[in-house]
Formats: sequence, C-alpha cells, structure tokens
Amino acid sequence: MARVGKSIIKGIEAKEVVRLLNKAYADEWLSFYQYYIEEKVVKGIMKDAAIAELAQHAQDELRHADMVAQRILQLGGTPLLNPKEWFVHSNCGYEEPKNFDILAILEDAIKGEQCAIRTYSELVELTRNKDIVTYDIVSQILADEVEHEEDLVALQEDITEFVKELKASMQKL
Ligand SMILES: [Fe+2]
Ligand SMILES: [Fe+2]
Repeated sequence: MARVGKSIIKGIEAKEVVRLLNKAYADEWLSFYQYYIEEKVVKGIMKDAAIAELAQHAQDELRHADMVAQRILQLGGTPLLNPKEWFVHSNCGYEEPKNFDILAILEDAIKGEQCAIRTYSELVELTRNKDIVTYDIVSQILADEVEHEEDLVALQEDITEFVKELKASMQKL
C-alpha cells in the first residue's frame, strides 16, 4: 500500500482492519447468494413485490462485496480467495431457505440484515478517527443495510395487513 495512504491510519493496525473487512466480505457474498436464491424460490401472495426487493438487495450486497474488496486491496491485504473460507470467517453465516413461503423468506432476510447492521456498526465504531477511508466505506454500507431492514419490514407488514383484510372480507361473504 502507498506509504502516505497508510500513514493516515492511526491507532489501529491495517492488518486488523483487513481481518475484519475480510469477515464482512464473507458476509456480503453469503448475503448476496441468500438473496439471489430466495428471489428464485419465493412463493406466495404478493411474491412479485418480494422478487423485485430481493433482487435489488442481491445487487446491493454484491456492490458491497466489491467496495470491501477494493479497500482490503488498498490496505495491502487479499480478499478471501476461496468460497470455503466464507463460512469460516463470516459473522452472520448463511440461512438456507427451508420454507419458501414469502413471510418465512422475509423473516430470514430481516435477521440477516439485523446481523449486518450490528457488524457494520462495530466497524464504524472501530475505525472512527482511526481509518477515515474505511470509516467512510463502512458508514455507506451501514446506511444501505439499515434501509434494507426497513424495506423488508415494510413489505412484511404490507403482506400481513393484506392477508388480514382478505380474511376479514371473506368472512363477510
Ligand atoms: Fe451488504
Ligand atoms: Fe443488506
């Protein structure tokens, strides 16, 4: 890494930042795949709205993986080279979709986002005033993860409400 670029990191080892970023990198790939496959298998009421949301999130997670990889390289590190390592280093793991019902899929996805929010909050705290470039990147990603959680919860509420209204109107028949 360029010497001046490295000299602006203070009070934290670049190696430690790389280690933590690689854990986040593993999370992003697993999260990307989770959304990718959920979008394919999801079933149930209002599934088109879910498909559009899940596909958008998949693209965002892939973009996050790219942002994190670029920073790891800048810091003189190497992004995890083997997908097997994703499971070893991931903070949030991988929730295999077992129930394809839209509400179950959304619940899994919300849990994943909540874990991502916790992970990036820690990274923001850790790099604040120490590694401003990483701080900026993890702050941007954190904002996206907060938005992801919000979008999924809103969709979950819309569907729950819709089902409730449907049941109520059917009872009137
Ligand atoms: Fe992400
Ligand atoms: Fe996300």
